Amino acid sequence: MTVSATRAHTDRFREIIVARLGLYFDDGRLEQIADVLRERTVATKSADVGAYVDRLAVTRHGAEEFRVLAEALTVVETFFFRNADNFRAFSERILPERIRAHADTKRLRILSAGCASGDEPYSLAIQVREALPDIASWDVKIVAIDLNPAMLAKASRARYSAWSLRATPDAVRRRYFRQDGKDFILDPVIQRMVTFEERNLVDDDPVFWRANYDVIFCRNVIMYFTADVMQRIVQRYRHALSPDGYLFLGHAETLRGISNDFHLCRSHDTFYYQRREAPPDTLDTLTSQGLWNGTTTTLPLETTAPWVDVIQMASDRIVALGARRREPSVDGPAAVVPPGAPIASEWDLAPVLEAMRRERFSDALDLLSALPADSHDDPDAMLLRAALLTNSGRLDEAQSTCAHLLALDELNAGAHYLMALCREHAGDASAATGHDQTAVYLDPSFAMPHVHLGLAARRSGDSATARRELEQAVLLLGREDASRLLLFGGGFSRETLLNLCRAELRTVAGGQ
Ligand SMILES: C[S@@+](CC[C@H](N)C(=O)[O-])C[C@H]1O[C@@H](n2cnc3c(N)ncnc32)[C@H](O)[C@@H]1O
Repeated sequence: MTVSATRAHTDRFREIIVARLGLYFDDGRLEQIADVLRERTVATKSADVGAYVDRLAVTRHGAEEFRVLAEALTVVETFFFRNADNFRAFSERILPERIRAHADTKRLRILSAGCASGDEPYSLAIQVREALPDIASWDVKIVAIDLNPAMLAKASRARYSAWSLRATPDAVRRRYFRQDGKDFILDPVIQRMVTFEERNLVDDDPVFWRANYDVIFCRNVIMYFTADVMQRIVQRYRHALSPDGYLFLGHAETLRGISNDFHLCRSHDTFYYQRREAPPDTLDTLTSQGLWNGTTTTLPLETTAPWVDVIQMASDRIVALGARRREPSVDGPAAVVPPGAPIASEWDLAPVLEAMRRERFSDALDLLSALPADSHDDPDAMLLRAALLTNSGRLDEAQSTCAHLLALDELNAGAHYLMALCREHAGDASAATGHDQTAVYLDPSFAMPHVHLGLAARRSGDSATARRELEQAVLLLGREDASRLLLFGGGFSRETLLNLCRAELRTVAGGQ
């Protein structure tokens, strides 16, 4: 039987998948879901694709057909101790801290959400076991959930290939796995530490989520969700975590533009989040060092766009500065707000940007100061002020402004980059590197932190890092937004910055 799926059918199928499984497929992956749609139409003996979609639309949550679709549509790549830095942060910082905090109750709760074949929760269980010699006297629960039944079946077999153990230290492999032919079987003691459950993160279940977890690992899962699904799930995690509990995401996932309810933490060369109370009474050491002013803000969000678009929009707030809606004026042609671009306030910052473009920094600062008083706490106005102060060489004031801004919006990539410049000026190279790396983590398309990291590495004689960062800078500078270059390029043109990076790269190559 030949089955064809029109664009309208595929779009409807895609909408149902988003609503029921949370998974979003952009237009580039439309053919993949059209294939699944055709396969399932045949497999269910539906009259045609339309009939299959009609029936699916009224099929209840959790029904067998959705389980089959989950198996067909989820990405299940995983392995033991994946992203080793996460596990180092967990075992060396978080676990000892939680064990100390629970010395009285001896209760530890960990969730692995989107656990796939169990490699992640079992890795956590091994680390808990290693950290607790007296584990028998502890009440430890490691819960692992996934909506893909085939993965959960694999997890319960606990039988893995050598490839799944490629990042597992030899000593751990010897201690906790028994070889059986080509496979490795996990020690039953570790198996028993983890409880697996088939569960869809999209479905609410107040009882399950009333958990008080110390740590939630949800890595490489939400990147496949739409922004509103992601927001709902992160909100749920916030409630399910103990007040100072931790959340780990995949290294390509951030909460930027998604939630302001967490502090960004950085240690062991990795990033993760800690639930924060509102309003925050302490600030992460990465940010403001005592300059918190006691107010808080939330980022405006476009909740219907796919997650990647929202991330893009959220991290490009600064770019939107150059496109504020305004009346035609003598300063230049009227700009329009790009569709869907988040606008935090009504302040017309275009004249300020125009003065900046002409390198009239002190005029630009005067224009900013002349805006109504309540503009002074506007994140975009603050970022612009920090950039102007940096360009004027007033780095102490720039640092105060950045610190203030980071207290309001800890996940502001531009503020972290400017903070890096300020810390470098103050002679604190390590904090500068930390802020640059944070900016890169929060916005991987941001070119200037790579330039800065590359130059710093070259100066310190770290050729490998210098080459990697400068090559990345060249790649990103070529497509960096013009407004962002204006804000953060230090007055240099794209061509000049590209030439600088290429010259530095030649020096690095020549020095070898
Ligand atoms: C790429 S794997 C990540 C595995 C592991 N967390 C890691 O990082 O190695 C993503 C997992 O998330 C699961 N998943 C996707 N959508 C889900 C949902 N709505 N509810 C529960 N699990 C989901 C998939 O079935 C898959 O096993």
